[in-house]
Amino acid sequence: MKHSGFIAAAVLFMLPSLGQAGAKPDQAALERGKALAFDSNKGNCLACHMIADGEFPGNLGPPMIQMKERFPDRAALREQIWDASAKNPKSMMPPFGKNGVLSGEEVDLIVDYLYTL
Ligand code: HEC
Repeated sequence: MKHSGFIAAAVLFMLPSLGQAGAKPDQAALERGKALAFDSNKGNCLACHMIADGEFPGNLGPPMIQMKERFPDRAALREQIWDASAKNPKSMMPPFGKNGVLSGEEVDLIVDYLYTL
């Protein structure tokens, strides 16, 4: 896409509050979210979840598909990543926010990315 750089720059210019609640994430932010999800030292989500584009996914957890339809409540999706044990005390999924592996901003970037799936 020839103009995507220009559009991203225009969006950045128009939305100084980018990344805060309500702002539409731009492509660069979505790429960051994806990178965090795939990074084995960060989200490492692929170890347990099938995600489009991800190589050698595990299948301990459900596939990351149709996230908007399945998680219309953003807070619930965020909480699952921040601390899966809040909903399921026996969860095998690490509490990424609670244990400090992901910051609040990083969890938000991953949520934005998951909503594209
Ligand atoms: C060690 C394995 C493991 C890792 C790593 C992991 N998860 Fe999970 N995840 C699970 C399991 C198991 C479940 C099933 C529900 C539960 O136990 O909480 C789950 C459930 C979920 C759900 C709810 C899915 C549904 O359909 O109900 C979401 C969303 C989710 N994980 C996102 C993530 C994201 C995003 C990451 C990376 C930041 C991640 N998970 C990393 C194991 C994992």
